[in-house]
Amino acid sequence: MLRRPRRNRKSPVIRDLVQENSLSLNDLIYPMFVMEGEGVRSEIASMPGVARYSLDLLLEEMQECVDLGLRTFALFPNLPESKKDKYATESHNPEGLYLQAVQAIKNRFPDIALMTDVAMDPYSSDGHDGIVEEKPGGVEIVNDETLVVLGKMAVAQARAGADIIGPSDMMDGRIGYIREALDKDGFTNVSIMAYTAKYAGAFYGPFRDALDSAPRFGDKKTYQMNPANSREALIEAELDYAEGADFLMVKPALAYLDIIKLLNDNFDLPIAAYNVSGEYAMIKAAAANGWLDGERTMLEVLTAMKRAGAKIILTYFAKEVAQLRKL
Ligand code: PBG
Repeated sequence: MLRRPRRNRKSPVIRDLVQENSLSLNDLIYPMFVMEGEGVRSEIASMPGVARYSLDLLLEEMQECVDLGLRTFALFPNLPESKKDKYATESHNPEGLYLQAVQAIKNRFPDIALMTDVAMDPYSSDGHDGIVEEKPGGVEIVNDETLVVLGKMAVAQARAGADIIGPSDMMDGRIGYIREALDKDGFTNVSIMAYTAKYAGAFYGPFRDALDSAPRFGDKKTYQMNPANSREALIEAELDYAEGADFLMVKPALAYLDIIKLLNDNFDLPIAAYNVSGEYAMIKAAAANGWLDGERTMLEVLTAMKRAGAKIILTYFAKEVAQLRKL
């Protein structure tokens, strides 16, 4: 035998030498949840190890993460029902929880990169990512009217200090609309990470628990993509690219590695993968039962996302990975 592939696996040093992909803390974005109050840490039952924090404790938790070497964070708000309405008005209230939190985080940690979320659902009494209108044929999530809200939200976040705007809504034309709104107000240096290929699947359940943001009726299938499709992802990516996105994201990640590869093969922008709440919950649940080795599974899954072509991974595991690195 001339070819013996096992020679390249014969020892740890040789295996490391030939290893093609690896995880770096530079690649990870840690999503966190902020809520009202003081001194509050509220566990999310379906996401063991992840909690919503009032701003004071959020800053402490972030300090711990920064000390562990994490440098990029994504922030989502949990709002009481009383702050939600049809038009997500609270989303662009500069005195509101979210924008105040963004400002406080950037004041305390000027060197981190903070990604903010642009979508109506955390603030919407309908639990949808757009404005819901009664139409003769039934309810509709209206696209172009929603863009106006998203634009206001994005500019308000930029004003509060956001480094990266993350539109997670899937309305048509929102990247271009937001880019223009940001530029018009002088925020030409604020980046946009487009949720480019965001699928309407079952993996977002625990996140909707965290935000109390599940749709009050219907589903998100008229704006999020059909999990059976890949060609549409190219259309979404072409549009986001043309409209000025700085990063293209695929979400969820684990069941969509082919989409990550498809975008990475076809576009020169950095590709991000969102290792979503349900993917996190699956591994945590199996590990808690002793059915899987949680740590090894976590590292395998995240490395697979890198192998598929994700430069960046948004993951609730980020802190755990950072803790392992410190060992
Ligand atoms: C919606 C949004 C969702 C997530 C982030 N922003 C899910 C949804 O469509 O309801 C999910 C993230 C996760 O599951 O971890 N704007």
